[in-house]
Amino acid sequence: MPLVILPRRDEKFAWMNRVYLTGITTTGTPHLGNYAGAIRPAIAASKDPGTEQFYFLADLHAMIKGLSAQDVRRSRLEVAATWMALGLDTDKAFFYCQSDIPEIPALAWLLACQASKGLLNRAHAYKAVVQENETTGSNDPDKGITMGLFSYPVLMAADILMFKANKVPVGKDQIQHIEMARDMAQRFNHHYGEHFVLPEAQIDNSTAVLAGLDGRKMSKSYNNTIPLFLPEKQFRKHIMKIKTNSLEPGEPKDPDGNTLFEIYQAFATEAQVAEVRKHYADGIAWGEMKQNLFDHLNELLKEPREKYAELIEQPEKIGEVLQQGATRARALSQPFVAELYDAVGIKPMWQL
Ligand code: TRP
Repeated sequence: MPLVILPRRDEKFAWMNRVYLTGITTTGTPHLGNYAGAIRPAIAASKDPGTEQFYFLADLHAMIKGLSAQDVRRSRLEVAATWMALGLDTDKAFFYCQSDIPEIPALAWLLACQASKGLLNRAHAYKAVVQENETTGSNDPDKGITMGLFSYPVLMAADILMFKANKVPVGKDQIQHIEMARDMAQRFNHHYGEHFVLPEAQIDNSTAVLAGLDGRKMSKSYNNTIPLFLPEKQFRKHIMKIKTNSLEPGEPKDPDGNTLFEIYQAFATEAQVAEVRKHYADGIAWGEMKQNLFDHLNELLKEPREKYAELIEQPEKIGEVLQQGATRARALSQPFVAELYDAVGIKPMWQL
């Protein structure tokens, strides 16, 4: 694969609003909801020649969950293989592991020295744990809270500011983190000169939020996910487990608000959806609809599933792609951190 090192972006690029960046925390196995909500739109965007994309595995962020080393290793591999199997153009997009860019934690420290503790006290994720401690009557409101959890937004700000991203496609729960990144960037710029581009959250209301097996939002935390690349048989079993109601075959059914229909809709063309609406009106049996959904998804996932299976057996190949991504990314991050160190008064003595 050719190693393309892009020239450094300057302000001219920065205000073109064309640098997209997002991180994927490596804490589990990618599922259908991740695909429809995040991976698919990101891969589509990466085909747009007028933009630059940074997609990375947020494996340092994963540390705050306290997973075993084994689980972290597995998730890193699975997430990377998923993006590659689904067709991310890793020669165009910057695709790397956060932990392969040592400049990111270095920048996080510079930003921590700008972030007021009061700002971080207001972070939702931190406040939620404090509140939980208070309601359960603990005498320590900070019980179980590590500095990793508390300073999560600082590391995230470093991820974003490092590559002068303008647009950060994230879920609504992350908006506050982007605002905090802007705050830290502004303070640094104020003290040391204009070095950072101020990022914006990009919330796409049209991206699908998929329902899971029990009808609630598909999410690791609800344990209701359908992993993307299960072997065919197990994949079918999961589809068969999706909750329906007690309407009998032949009784007309309402597609709207129905989990089977919603999942189908997220992966089908308009014409296909119209066809299935008719089946619902005609009273299709739930078992038959499940089979339809399975056939449809299975057809879509067959090829990437094979690619995934191949990739997962060749971790060194995945590692090579990520290394190449990190090399390209570091061509930007190394000089940028040198510039920032210089701005704060740190540079080699012989250059003074
Ligand atoms: N916090 C994000 C999440 O949980 C993951 C993440 C880490 C991220 N660093 C980022 C997202 C930088 C966008 C930009 O989804």
